[in-house]
Amino acid sequence: MILLLGATGYIGQAFAKELQRRNENFIPLSRQQVDYTRFDLLLDFLKTKKPAFLVNCAGYTGKPNVDACELDKAGTLVGNVLLPQTIAHACAVAGVPWGHVSSGCIYAGAKVAEPGTVRVEKDFTQPELRELVAKHPEAIRGFTETDTPNFSFRDLPCSFYSGTKALGEEAMAGLGQSYIWRLRIPFDEFDNARNYLSKVQRYAKVYDNVNSISHRADFVKACLDTWKLRVPFGIYNVTNPGFVTTRHVVEQIEKFLKPAKKFEFWQSNAEFYQVAAKTPRSNCVMDASKLLAAGVEIRGVEEALEDSLKNWQPEK
Ligand SMILES: NC(=O)c1ccc[n+]([C@@H]2O[C@H](COP(=O)([O-])OP(=O)(O)OC[C@H]3O[C@@H](n4cnc5c(N)ncnc54)[C@H](OP(=O)(O)O)[C@@H]3O)[C@@H](O)[C@H]2O)c1
Repeated sequence: MILLLGATGYIGQAFAKELQRRNENFIPLSRQQVDYTRFDLLLDFLKTKKPAFLVNCAGYTGKPNVDACELDKAGTLVGNVLLPQTIAHACAVAGVPWGHVSSGCIYAGAKVAEPGTVRVEKDFTQPELRELVAKHPEAIRGFTETDTPNFSFRDLPCSFYSGTKALGEEAMAGLGQSYIWRLRIPFDEFDNARNYLSKVQRYAKVYDNVNSISHRADFVKACLDTWKLRVPFGIYNVTNPGFVTTRHVVEQIEKFLKPAKKFEFWQSNAEFYQVAAKTPRSNCVMDASKLLAAGVEIRGVEEALEDSLKNWQPEK
């Protein structure tokens, strides 16, 4: 049996759907039924039910966006640092292996490979870097699991949300047997306020940047496959291999969905942060090659993006 924490959430619902599709025996647990954020209650539940594996997709995401975390720092710490630490301790004591949904938002930018050197650039809104991305996408490399987060409390600036996600990973380190699955900007074919493709369509103006992104169903399949295939425990970047610019996503939306609206872009970082955002945003490229090398299949980002738009299901 698999125990699923946070099954009511946007990512948790996708895990529940995939576990059902696989005919897996699982228990979706909500804090309303058992307050799994309490060590004693969770340990008791684990000892009684003896799950073979636990999936944690519970956490604190600011709504409608990460700016909300700046207004509830205690809640953000509780959900993203104390909770994974509590689960890690309870699972270690009960001998239950588990997987934790983390985030790629603990990085900023990407690596630029040039003959003989690889350097990190944090801000891809700079004109020369935009040009490099357009003309030489092969020079852009993602952050790997061995790269230290560069958008965290240890490497400022960061958003409070990102800081807690990085700290959450640290809080689990060295405790029991676990996977850390890093999700990045979920999207799919189902129009929803949480879907990146819906957000891009609804923004008054679009912020053009460079990102790796995760198709929601591809993400949960890949996470569950790490356990199914018994790949070594550890951290995995679970993004569709490759990256996109927001401008390209807009072009694909225009091509496949033919919206009436004309998309506008923020002219500069200064304008974006003055009008639309409060706390710094993470935009980053992730390297998914560790996941692929472990034998877990996940399609490339272009295929996943096109497929989502071809099968787009507007919200009723
Ligand atoms: N959505 C994204 O854009 C995104 C991107 C990268 C990473 N992530 C990570 O993926 C995980 C799931 O995100 P999501 O988008 O599915 O979030 P969500 O829709 O807000 O759902 C999270 C669930 O966590 C549970 N929970 C437990 N403790 C909580 C707390 N202190 N505050 C709020 N909720 C709490 C709640 O379920 P019950 O109360 O029913 O138990 C809630 O339904 C999070 O760790 C998030 O950081 C999300």
